[in-house]
Amino acid sequence: MLIKSPRAWEIAENLATLESVYMNRRQFAKTVAAGTILAAGASMPFSAARAEEEVVTMANAQAAADPTADLYPAPLNAAYADAGRMITPAQDNLTYNNFYEFGSHKQIWQRAEDLQRRPWAVTFDGLVEEEMTVDIDTLIRAMALEERVYRHRCVEAWSMVVPWTGFPLKALVDYARPLGSAKYVVMQTFEDPGMAPGQEQFWYPWPYTEGVSIQEADNDLAFIVTGAYGQPMANQFGAPLRLHLPWKYGFKSVKSIVRISFTEERPTTFWEELVAKEYGFWANVNPEVSHPRWSQATEKVLGSNERIPTQLYNGYGEQVAYLYEGMDPEELFF
Ligand code: MTE
Repeated sequence: MLIKSPRAWEIAENLATLESVYMNRRQFAKTVAAGTILAAGASMPFSAARAEEEVVTMANAQAAADPTADLYPAPLNAAYADAGRMITPAQDNLTYNNFYEFGSHKQIWQRAEDLQRRPWAVTFDGLVEEEMTVDIDTLIRAMALEERVYRHRCVEAWSMVVPWTGFPLKALVDYARPLGSAKYVVMQTFEDPGMAPGQEQFWYPWPYTEGVSIQEADNDLAFIVTGAYGQPMANQFGAPLRLHLPWKYGFKSVKSIVRISFTEERPTTFWEELVAKEYGFWANVNPEVSHPRWSQATEKVLGSNERIPTQLYNGYGEQVAYLYEGMDPEELFF
């Protein structure tokens, strides 16, 4: 059931108070009671505070200029209204991103300002009734946008909680009209080293490619994202269109998608092609299967000092475990 209600985490245009940018009242009250906001504010160096203000101003400007801005905020899907943890402060994940097209470190938000969000088109090809290229605004307006609060778990053992806006991946698959022989949905990011200097690093297998099985794409959790925090998403999140699969490691959630192909063959994905023994295709979250460089037992909660235990399928097992019944467990979890 969809319920329309304003959310306190929507990014305030006037930036009157940073707290109001990201916290709902309940969480805000809890945090104040614990005294953490004042403590954090008092100890934050001036330059860090300024960067936070700058990044939120930049995100707001990108959102305001977006041709689909009138579609936000979208109705909140009551089934995904609460991820069981505090929503990550917007400025924390706006300044801590993986987007290798703009650099192989976390501080790419200023560089990502060069991402040209328009014109933008998405091509559907491979095993489809008819190949087509669709303008992003036509595509977004053809979908019923909704908001969902999801947990996100990176294989580097950090996590965040984001109120995304978008639509189910299943709706995109239906839109594309794949043939019955299609077994996988493959998604690719743009390729433009002039705009994204990270792509000059020739040893990476550009363009960034990810994929899921048709059954995974059909699962209600699989979500195509167009916005975050109640407005069109900022460039560094992967504007104007990205994937989010909350039960899998974050590297599956490909950003800035320009091509969606339907195939019979399982694709080789970006990280799999680079280091196959570290990054598998399925990449489901599992605290008991360590990555060679990071234990997956616990995770650092972005925007806090907390480290918490990691859950199988990132806590979404009830919705997704059936997809993997009877499959080789080793391959499923790395
Ligand atoms: N998509 C593209 N095109 N390029 C990337 O480098 N990084 C992935 C994923 N999608 C990546 C990408 C990884 S490793 C993670 S953890 C998430 O994006 C990070 O998303 P965030 O920056 O919104 O937190």
